[in-house]
Amino acid sequence: MKTPFFLIDEDKLKKNIDDFENALKEIWPNSQLAYSVKTNSLPWLLEYLKDKNVFAEVVSDEELDLAKLCGYSMNSIIFNGPIKGEEHFKKAIEGEAILNLDSKNDLEFLKKYGSKERSIGIRVNVSPEMFSKEDIGYEEDGFRFGFTDENGSLQKALETVYEYCPKVKLGLHLHCNSITRSVAVYKTIAEYAAYLIEKYELNLDFIDIGGGFFGGVEGKPTPVDYIKAIKKELEKVVNINKTKLIVEPGSAVIGSVVELHTSVIDVKDTKHARVVTTDGSRIHIDPLWKKERYLYSTTAPKEQRNIPKQIICGYTCMDHDRIMILEDEQELRQGDEIVYYRVGAYSMTFGGMFIRYLPEVYIKRNEKLEKVRERISTNQYFKIQSFTEKGE
Ligand SMILES: Cc1ncc(COP(=O)(O)O)c(C=O)c1O
Repeated sequence: MKTPFFLIDEDKLKKNIDDFENALKEIWPNSQLAYSVKTNSLPWLLEYLKDKNVFAEVVSDEELDLAKLCGYSMNSIIFNGPIKGEEHFKKAIEGEAILNLDSKNDLEFLKKYGSKERSIGIRVNVSPEMFSKEDIGYEEDGFRFGFTDENGSLQKALETVYEYCPKVKLGLHLHCNSITRSVAVYKTIAEYAAYLIEKYELNLDFIDIGGGFFGGVEGKPTPVDYIKAIKKELEKVVNINKTKLIVEPGSAVIGSVVELHTSVIDVKDTKHARVVTTDGSRIHIDPLWKKERYLYSTTAPKEQRNIPKQIICGYTCMDHDRIMILEDEQELRQGDEIVYYRVGAYSMTFGGMFIRYLPEVYIKRNEKLEKVRERISTNQYFKIQSFTEKGE
């Protein structure tokens, strides 16, 4: 098969979903699993998750439309984020989506469209100081999202919801990105939610704890660990049979089950280093350009001599498209393959179409490969990027 291509392992994907579903069923049965569409918005994946009754968590009008195109009904969509457009807000509230408010715009839209019994959550701004520094990394200016308790904006948002949506099925939404994805982060989030529930005497229909979990990675916390920690704090203040728990994992569903297959195009020595150019790129697997190490394998034969240093580079012709450095490993030659593992999150739909266009995606099902995304051709690229008055 022609590289580069992504490969999704369906059995592993199913296991990641089942692990979350089973943990929720066992620990907090009144719950809903949702999938964070931004993490990987491949239509095949969304259709697969819809069939497994996993809700879609979307953060833009476009993602909302995409979820609908993939067969989601509005009442199995969670609409988050601060950039909702008015028309989509209206459609979502009319269609009984779960809406988590995250901006002044959202409050204005609610004033216009929020009269009926609807599921409305309020995203809460969490402070980095609540967490240990190792978990979060210190962020001097705090997190961007949600309404803040300390300055009264959470109170105002609550008042708006009560006034304009008197029959509201009220929720709180708290998501926090962390470096470590540690269970301690979720204990802290749940503790904070419990504090707010008591402070504002909230009668919650749902509590949405967001994403940011590990899933399918050996030696790391499991869905059971996370959900237990969340329940331990929240059951002190809510009846878990009445208040629904929502979780929105993205990476924990798709991150660990995707490989990128690449080939070596060229090998050369410069004055300074051995440069190995491949048909993959950092834009496929490291859109934040931060990663230095990968789980990977190569097809370099065992008997091949080791060489001290090989710089594995991408195809993009940007000098800094350097994927990783191999030290004292078997020498790679033209045509050898390099496979990167656990690269499903913020990758195949994030990388964009720079110099070459999006590669194919296959799924591995019953040991057979099935194509679920065709390589984007130059003609398709031309069409996407060309404006015609007639909209053709
Ligand atoms: C609100 C919300 N939910 C869910 C997620 C998914 O996070 P992850 O892919 O780390 O699970 C994110 C990611 O930033 C998020 O912002």
